Amino acid sequence: MGSGQWLMAKRASFRSDSFLDNENVPETGCLSIVVLGASGDLAKKKTFPALFNLYSQGFLTSNDVHIFGYARTKISDDQLRNRIRGCLTSSKEEEVSEFLQLIKYVSGSYDTDEGFQLLDKEISEHEFSKNSVEVSSRRLFYLALPPSVYPSVCRMIKQCCMDKSNLGGWTRIVVEKPFGKDLASAEELSDQIGELFDESQIYRIDHYLGKELVQNLLVIRFANRFFMPLWNRDNIDNVQIVFREDFGTDGRGGYFDEYGIIRDIIQNHLLQVLSLVAMEKPVSLKPEHIRDEKVKVLQSVLPINDEDVVLGQYDGYRDDPTVPDHSNTPTFATVVLHIHNERWEGVPFILKAGKALSSRKAEIRVQFKDVPGDIFKCRKQGRNEIVIRLQPSEAIYMKLAVKQPGLEMSTVQSELDLSYSQRYQNVIIPEAYERLILDTIRGDQQHFVRRDELKAAWEIFTPLLHRIDNGEMKPLAYKPGSRGPAEADELLAKAGYVQTRGYIWIPPTL
Ligand code: NDP
Ligand code: BG6
Repeated sequence: MGSGQWLMAKRASFRSDSFLDNENVPETGCLSIVVLGASGDLAKKKTFPALFNLYSQGFLTSNDVHIFGYARTKISDDQLRNRIRGCLTSSKEEEVSEFLQLIKYVSGSYDTDEGFQLLDKEISEHEFSKNSVEVSSRRLFYLALPPSVYPSVCRMIKQCCMDKSNLGGWTRIVVEKPFGKDLASAEELSDQIGELFDESQIYRIDHYLGKELVQNLLVIRFANRFFMPLWNRDNIDNVQIVFREDFGTDGRGGYFDEYGIIRDIIQNHLLQVLSLVAMEKPVSLKPEHIRDEKVKVLQSVLPINDEDVVLGQYDGYRDDPTVPDHSNTPTFATVVLHIHNERWEGVPFILKAGKALSSRKAEIRVQFKDVPGDIFKCRKQGRNEIVIRLQPSEAIYMKLAVKQPGLEMSTVQSELDLSYSQRYQNVIIPEAYERLILDTIRGDQQHFVRRDELKAAWEIFTPLLHRIDNGEMKPLAYKPGSRGPAEADELLAKAGYVQTRGYIWIPPTL
């Protein structure tokens, strides 16, 4: 099989493996991907590299796709291509050059017709040049921009860049987080964009939903008999969802100070993970059925009490010249949430996120209750846990007590370990953005945040955020490179988490 045929077969098999039910979505014809904010950090580091990876795997081909960068900065096509080149990882120089040739740059403002009319002209020319056989216009606008310009950009797209020749196809808008700063501002933004585009055209991206192990959560929970009877308040004592970074707000202090760790990580990434861990089984895998269940569980979260929160700010955060000297913005937070429903009543969900900590990792830790009638006297060795390591070293491992091998009858903590690097040695795990852009092209909204889901997420955190914004709650200082404030560990213990002593899971090395 030639490489072209192999790629076609791969694309076809990818589609038939999926659980999608969107046969009405045109899959062929001209595809124009427009990256707005093309001069920025996200576009360079994530969006264009994701597009390149899709191209090199055959999901985008030069027969039908064209990519446009749009921003105010006045640069040429080649200048943009050179900026992007350094972020593309491939041993095939020729492939990189072919991909870069698909990119054209248009410069213009975000709130006047002129630039967008020029953009539309370029897209239309491309569509007519490619559409000699299959007539259809698929236009994907990726807003890699600060949210403050979303409304004007969406207005301009609607006004100037919709397919006027009725070629058929679709227009889709991808918006980045942070989507609003609280419930009122998020609803206002939703109203503004909602007046211009239908919900089915809006893709609110949360890149944690594109991570391999996050995408595995529903399979683990609902395709395995093991877990179904255990996944509830009768067996589970507490759940932790943790995000740690071993670097500070380097270079992003100005942005970060306006938002803080709760808006940057907890309200979106960690809460999305929580919804997948805690939701009920959906009727089917249709995106709306899954998102209905996510909304329900978010709506069951009780208001947050101040005593269930510890905030921190690392020493040196305010040294950043873009951060105000008296900033009250938390760079660390532990928040305990309680879900008021039949499955989870009484089980604390501990969400913890911090910058400038001792290590970088993201994981879900489900801790089970003690075994009743401890005839082995092994309770002190630690509880059963299922840990889903999202990154780095993707893994799912179960901590359990086993007999210490040898002549003695004694117990020891060990693990059943599904480490991806070992079990799937030749599989390259796709980048989250790669997967989510492909979903957008395919019209699959399962891994995107629906408007009512976003609203429910803001409803949970807005009162707490307002108390922090008003200075009613203060972050505690912590040392960079530490575990965060000691009070956070105390809160964890109060919530019922029992730390395993004398045992640590070590990711396998190959
Ligand atoms: P940038 O600050 O790099 O902005 C992107 C582009 O937008 C800039 O190149 C600039 O282009 C234009 N721009 C910047 N500020 C303004 C402004 N005040 N008004 C109008 N245009 C402006 O942002 P990022 O690329 O880092 O992020 C883009 C979006 O993605 C944001 O919403 C961000 O929160 C989100 N995001 C970013 C992540 C990252 O890792 N960077 C991670 C997750 C989300 P020009 O001046 O040429 O028009
Ligand atoms: C972004 C946050 O959404 O996620 C950043 O704005 C954070 O502050 C990043 O560093 C983490 O993403 P990942 O995929 O590296 O865990």
